[in-house]
Amino acid sequence: MNMKCSVILLAFTVSYASGISNRSFPADFKFGVTTAAYQIEGGWNEDGKGESLWDWYTHTYPDRIQGGTNADVTCDSYHKYKEDIEILKDLGVNFYRLSIAWSRILPEGTVNHVNQAGVDYYRTVFQLLIDNGIVPVVTLYHWDVPLTLSEIGGWTNPLLVDYFADYARLAFELFGDQVKQWHTFNEPQSFCMLSYQGPLRKAPGYDLPAEAVYQCNYVVLKAHAKAYHIYDDEFRQKQQGNISIVLVAHWKEPASDSDADKEGQNLALQFEMGLLANPIFNGNWPQVAIDRVAERSKLEGYPRSRLPEFTQEEIDYIKGTADYFGLNHYTTELVSFAYNVTNVTEYPSFDADRGVLRTTDPSWPQSNMTWLRSVPWGFRKMLNWIDQSYGHPAILVTENGWADDGTSREDPQRISYIQDYLTALLEAIYDDGVNVIGYSQWSIYDNFEWLSGYMAKFGLVYVDFSSPNRTRTPKSSYYYYQKIIKTKCLVDTCDAA
Ligand code: NOJ
Repeated sequence: MNMKCSVILLAFTVSYASGISNRSFPADFKFGVTTAAYQIEGGWNEDGKGESLWDWYTHTYPDRIQGGTNADVTCDSYHKYKEDIEILKDLGVNFYRLSIAWSRILPEGTVNHVNQAGVDYYRTVFQLLIDNGIVPVVTLYHWDVPLTLSEIGGWTNPLLVDYFADYARLAFELFGDQVKQWHTFNEPQSFCMLSYQGPLRKAPGYDLPAEAVYQCNYVVLKAHAKAYHIYDDEFRQKQQGNISIVLVAHWKEPASDSDADKEGQNLALQFEMGLLANPIFNGNWPQVAIDRVAERSKLEGYPRSRLPEFTQEEIDYIKGTADYFGLNHYTTELVSFAYNVTNVTEYPSFDADRGVLRTTDPSWPQSNMTWLRSVPWGFRKMLNWIDQSYGHPAILVTENGWADDGTSREDPQRISYIQDYLTALLEAIYDDGVNVIGYSQWSIYDNFEWLSGYMAKFGLVYVDFSSPNRTRTPKSSYYYYQKIIKTKCLVDTCDAA
């Protein structure tokens, strides 16, 4: 690791002249960083690992990935985990959120064939983290379903409920003595809503009828709930851990003061966050989604709603299956009501059911990703909306971060983003009474950013992808985040908490 301490000074002089909070984070507030197996590990076919959906997608359709790249090697964390954990220790994080590649421990996805080398790899990584005082926070599914299971329909096939539950039970058995904090799924919204329909599709990249989007949500919710109950019934007492799910939403700000746009805001939040969060925290789909999809389906000549109906038993089984709210949040969109406006998109479709137009404000600072602008007040509103909509849950911010082109080790924009978003978070805690218990940066390293390949970089640490050694070099934001974790303060001196 090439530590450039000089950049630390520069980091602290950036931008907190204007409104950066001088309140301390609560004493028990936890800081972390997040990664995902496919995005950092590499070793895609080593030591018995099976092929995953994203291995297949990037190899089969390089034209769909910017630069035609893939994550066959990426940060090479499969081999460089020791150095990775040294960096995490130096950074001082309380926890490290990472994911298990399902096909590294179950090459065909099913528990009849366990790959011992994969099990050994994760046990070694988890133990090294623990030995260094870092809590492993483990996601079971961060988008890399074993290809075999994708080929039978992936998350649109109800069989996946049991396959996922078997995998989850095995993971609790194999790693539960080391791992005390689990997440079942990362952002089902992303792989259900951005994979099966729409112009920019993540793997498997199918263009299916809107049914597939809802069916994916339905299957994932049942798989999540089953894994939660397995943990609760069979492991919790002995292992004394907790388990949740990670959900994502951009804040939706109405484009105008009109009642219609306020309704658009509600629709957008309910179709993006509510479809997943409402069944888990309140029970059943949001009523507005039930009504809207039924109405649209009827108008379009379907004999029944394309939104599957939960039985009362399923509603009860899914409700209450999260020990806290895991939130990924990055940005904000402006929304206007556009129901029945035929140019929203083609229909029948998920977008037409949702019925809103989404835009951004060009004055908001723009990152290297088209969808990501810095809007810290939207973060505060998002945290408040979750607090109010889902019964004042404890919220762990499982991801938040900024993308640039990664060419410079000095990244003042990322530092400003962190300062502004963490200021908004402190306001949510102290001024609004929202129970935010921790925060994790996406990401520790520059890594493979799905359809954007290596064109967008989110890391606190630069990775030289042209070197076989994948040399890691901390950026100025790394030192700034290190200082925040150490002092629990965004500026030089904070008021006591
Ligand atoms: C959320 C996803 O969980 C992660 O995989 C992705 O890289 C970041 N957002 C940034 O787009």
